[in-house]
Amino acid sequence: MAPHRQLKKLFTAGLLLTGALANPLKRRTDDDEDDDTPLPLVIWHGLGDSYAADGLRGVGELAEAVNPGTLVYYVRMADDASGDQSATFFGNLTDHIAKACADIAAHPILSTAPAIDALGFSQGGQFLRAYVQRCNNPPVRSLVTFGSQHNGITAFRECGTTDWICRGAMALLKGGTWSTFVQSRLVPAQYFRDPAQYDKYLESSNFLADINNERPIKNYNYNKNIAKLENLALYMFEDDTTAIPKESAWFEEVNGTEIIPLRARRLYSEDWIGLRELDRKGGLKFKTIPGEHMKLTDKILNETFAEFFGPLKLKKADKGPTRLGDGDL
Ligand SMILES: *[C@@H]1O[C@H](CO)[C@@H](O)[C@H](O)[C@H]1NC(C)=O
Ligand SMILES: *[C@@H]1O[C@H](CO)[C@@H](O)[C@H](O)[C@H]1NC(C)=O
Ligand SMILES: *[C@@H]1O[C@H](CO)[C@@H](O)[C@H](O)[C@H]1NC(C)=O
Repeated sequence: MAPHRQLKKLFTAGLLLTGALANPLKRRTDDDEDDDTPLPLVIWHGLGDSYAADGLRGVGELAEAVNPGTLVYYVRMADDASGDQSATFFGNLTDHIAKACADIAAHPILSTAPAIDALGFSQGGQFLRAYVQRCNNPPVRSLVTFGSQHNGITAFRECGTTDWICRGAMALLKGGTWSTFVQSRLVPAQYFRDPAQYDKYLESSNFLADINNERPIKNYNYNKNIAKLENLALYMFEDDTTAIPKESAWFEEVNGTEIIPLRARRLYSEDWIGLRELDRKGGLKFKTIPGEHMKLTDKILNETFAEFFGPLKLKKADKGPTRLGDGDL
């Protein structure tokens, strides 16, 4: 009898503890109603970049200037910049997303925030979306992506002649895009998606086919978590020749010469990942910016940070009916 009782006591204590740990966000939300502190901002950089790059730090500084007091966290796959840069090309994205989830959930400040905002550059955009779908702890309020490949790429980008990491990574392709060897090692192969090889993609894609819920068995959490966002802002660069096709930034499918808009796709009509529900509540924003891939001005970044990031309270106050609907498309 005694051991059983003891076990029960332990179990109860365990439950209480879990409850307390699971709920600090909830309890803090009330206090935060009158709090001007901006939500922390998590940034995930793109291919060939590192968390320590000057350009990226400059973006973080702008975010802090626009919303003073913003804590900026830069996602990294290694603590040294060169290791992190190399991980933009090499590795298994299942492990990368899991590491980002674990690091964010263990961060002393991020983990106690009522929510966070997220900013993804290029491939970092689809990776942060995977964070929302798979983990979302702490939950993301607004996710902004610039030139991301949400519907994958149909061609691999060219490497610069002296870009040895890129050249080394692309040499892996000799193994064939769909081989397990390549799918577990070459990052861009894990979001390669050619409608002409759709069956191979469905069978072998280690990342995108799963995160876009394209397989017959759907993950309902993916759908639920995206629908919970306040905003998903998708920026496409009008003259993007680096991310092919550029329309992937808007979840559009380019099949030959035909461009199929998101709202005409089954991904949307059957709401595989919550985009339709998000759209209906006014949270899905399609935006264009002139210029080539990732040619961003401070002006555009400032406007973006003012519109989507900042304190919890302000966003509630300025959320009027004029901001809802399809006006952005
Ligand atoms: C990637 O990693 C996950 C988890 O570690 C593993 O289950 C999966 O098989 C790996 N993918 C490939 C293509 O090897
Ligand atoms: C792409 O277009 C081809 C030819 O029209 C068609 O057979 C194929 O099913 C399309 N693929 C997808 C994924 O829609
Ligand atoms: C961006 O915002 C910061 C902070 O408000 C300001 O100092 C800077 O001049 C702005 N830059 C542009 C180009 O608007």
